[in-house]
Amino acid sequence: MTKYGSFPGARPRRLRTTPAMRRMVAETRLHPADLILPAFVREGISEPVAINSMPGVFQHTRDTLKKAAVEAVEAGVSGIMLFGVPEESKKDAAGTVGTEPDGILQLALRDVRAEVGDDLIVMSDLCLDEFTDHGHCGVLDAEGRVDNDATLERYAEMAQVQADAGAHVVGPSGMMDGQVGVVRDALDQSGHEDVSILAYTVKYSSAFFGPFREAVGSSLKGDRKTYQQDPANTRESLRELALDLEEGADMVMVKPAGPYLDILARVADAVDVPVAAYQISGEYAMIEAAAERGWIDRDKAIMESLTGIKRAGANMILTYWATEVARQL
Ligand code: PBG
Repeated sequence: MTKYGSFPGARPRRLRTTPAMRRMVAETRLHPADLILPAFVREGISEPVAINSMPGVFQHTRDTLKKAAVEAVEAGVSGIMLFGVPEESKKDAAGTVGTEPDGILQLALRDVRAEVGDDLIVMSDLCLDEFTDHGHCGVLDAEGRVDNDATLERYAEMAQVQADAGAHVVGPSGMMDGQVGVVRDALDQSGHEDVSILAYTVKYSSAFFGPFREAVGSSLKGDRKTYQQDPANTRESLRELALDLEEGADMVMVKPAGPYLDILARVADAVDVPVAAYQISGEYAMIEAAAERGWIDRDKAIMESLTGIKRAGANMILTYWATEVARQL
């Protein structure tokens, strides 16, 4: 008798014969609602400014940001994650403009909320690096080291002003110890119990953040290795996860995405909250650059990269291609 559990009875290729068959048996499907668009808004410009290392991505004016938000809604994207780029002269050691009610990020949050209401989840990056003149994610002590607990006080203020400005979700991304708990307390104490926290729980000190530095006009000279994680490690991601959940994270994020799919899969297995992954600037730039040279098929590579991230366990994906991809789906 033929053995159907092995060749020649068993032929996995039968399920790959036609597009319709492949479609039916696909285990992973991308949906526009999986996608979140990260977007940059820059103070003091009258036209959008192209970001060289991220072809197709712009520093928006307040007006073009609103348009981008509306386009995202129309495409079915779930959320927008905002980053503010202040005028260079306004940066200082404490990142003061990051907590001023009329700082660029707060203005943009108000603009976007007024434009989209509750049709798009409006999120804000909660971090000081765009606003400090030294470019670090926190404030520095007398020796020039990033001062964890002093930074937490700044994050608490940021959480409140961002929520006041209309953020549905805040995303603490500075990798300070205790940041999620402090942000939760600040939100609750200022009457923002309904504002959720998307915690940048797992964030590796990555070379793939390179293009982002241009995108936000970062002033950073050194690196972030004393607060972001060592790419060699897995266990500390699980520890960060346990701490963030205990401190009240509503959703957790793994970042970067592509080079850390093993971590993403571990995190997704371990939690009972939604999991996001951030396909970061360098992941975007690599595909765009290779496609520009004709070395890969751009659209297929984009879809494959996102499918891989979803397959690894992400519920939501932050990607600079969000609107474009949502339109194609
Ligand atoms: C911190 C922050 C960064 C990114 C998102 N939030 C920069 C960093 O940690 O160095 C990077 C996103 C990207 O590279 O696309 N404000």
